[in-house]
Amino acid sequence: MLVDVAFLPIPVKIAYTGNMEQKPISELMDLSGEVAIVTGGAMGIGYAIASRLAEAGAKVLVADKDAAAAEAAAAKIGGTAVSVDVSDEAQVEAMVAKAVSEFGGVDILVNNAGVYPTIPVLAASKEDFEKIIHVNLMGAFFAAKATAKQMIAQGKGGSIINITSIDALHPSATGLAFYDASKHGLWGFTKNLALELAPHKIWVNAIAPGGVLTPGTGLGKSADPALAEITETFLKRIPMHRMAHADEIGKVALFLASGLSSYMTGSQIVVDGGVLLA
Ligand SMILES: NC(=O)c1ccc[n+]([C@@H]2O[C@H](COP(=O)([O-])OP(=O)(O)OC[C@H]3O[C@@H](n4cnc5c(N)ncnc54)[C@H](O)[C@@H]3O)[C@@H](O)[C@H]2O)c1
Repeated sequence: MLVDVAFLPIPVKIAYTGNMEQKPISELMDLSGEVAIVTGGAMGIGYAIASRLAEAGAKVLVADKDAAAAEAAAAKIGGTAVSVDVSDEAQVEAMVAKAVSEFGGVDILVNNAGVYPTIPVLAASKEDFEKIIHVNLMGAFFAAKATAKQMIAQGKGGSIINITSIDALHPSATGLAFYDASKHGLWGFTKNLALELAPHKIWVNAIAPGGVLTPGTGLGKSADPALAEITETFLKRIPMHRMAHADEIGKVALFLASGLSSYMTGSQIVVDGGVLLA
């Protein structure tokens, strides 16, 4: 049946397909038969995501530059490990090829690998800026490009999830100017890529965590005094009065990777205990 759509600026008729079949929650969250790649999946937020996707039935490729940690993580969740530096395009292409040879394709990509060193701009070199951009932004581009090509060849769509940060929207501390540039960039990249890939039914979304207890943040007890100070100041600003556990990001990634988020693309979900309000 064709219906008039009155709220659009031009007269248009679209096919009205009636109510969507209401699938049970268990079916919506079932990722069996799907293949996921999680970069930086050996620990922290990446591991939490990999673990939830595996629990939902996906075959997971734990992709990390720390090969030993990736092997250990993959063994825990019944996945497969691959050693990759996401800032190297050839290695990223090999990562996607491994998902195809090992599991027969790829349906979900989580661009999680990232670095967040504290470097004041006035003390920084061109190389400092390049290193952060190459991992946090260029790495996501390499992985999204190689994966989307594979998804398009498979012809059944897919999901790309970029782990940004609240720093994609608002700075959390000084010394993170390059990090913030990379994450603002990743959010912009997410939105435009969502437009480009929508015709292929590849949905591209982002998750913007606030402070999360991970090895990178010293699990709240950082050996890096600069980072420990940032964490201390930051804690005071969080309305929930605590940092997130990595699984609190893992659960949102599962939502975005599953049928629960079937009408979402180009969105960024903030998971920050309310800190952006403060
Ligand atoms: N922890 C937080 O508070 C927080 C907040 C907002 C956003 N994030 C983002 O979440 C992501 C994960 O953060 P985390 O705290 O879990 O980090 P983490 O440092 O605890 O773990 C990062 C993982 O990524 C891997 N990695 C780093 N560089 C890599 C590269 N070039 N190629 C492949 N793997 C690489 C590391 O080996 C490690 O296993 C990052 O993108 C980070 O910016 C973290």
